Amino acid sequence: MRDRSLRGQGATGIRLHLAANTMSAHLEQYPSGTYPRGHRHGPGAHIVILSGEGYSFLWEEGQPRIRIDWRPGSLFVPPANWFHQHFNPDNEPVRYLALKPWGFTYKVEDLSKTDQDIRAGGTQIDYKDQDPEIHAIFLSECSKRGTEVRVAI
Ligand SMILES: [Fe+2]
Repeated sequence: MRDRSLRGQGATGIRLHLAANTMSAHLEQYPSGTYPRGHRHGPGAHIVILSGEGYSFLWEEGQPRIRIDWRPGSLFVPPANWFHQHFNPDNEPVRYLALKPWGFTYKVEDLSKTDQDIRAGGTQIDYKDQDPEIHAIFLSECSKRGTEVRVAI
């Protein structure tokens, strides 16, 4: 797994691009007590939780957040251009697989922008710019599980 700290503290992952295929995928892992930055992109990314238990927030800009609690085997699809952010308050690493259509028929996402700060023309919200309630909820969720908070914002 490669360093993916541009997405989140301690994050690792790999991208899977299959030859002559209409699908692509990436695998990402987040350590216990951490979470990646929120971001948004085009439609069609199917998130399959492989290990760990936690939750995600999904929201359309200017609208209330929707919370999805997940466990291994859960699957959800962030709608087109909705922000989404995944949280690991669990005592073990969380790992998920994102399955996405790829190619000229479906332009799912511009991967060059999903790791870039929204202030610099990207589609990612830095920790310091997120709604403070997001981190407060995470602290509460870690406390409920007795999980050490490792993310520093
Ligand atoms: Fe995403």
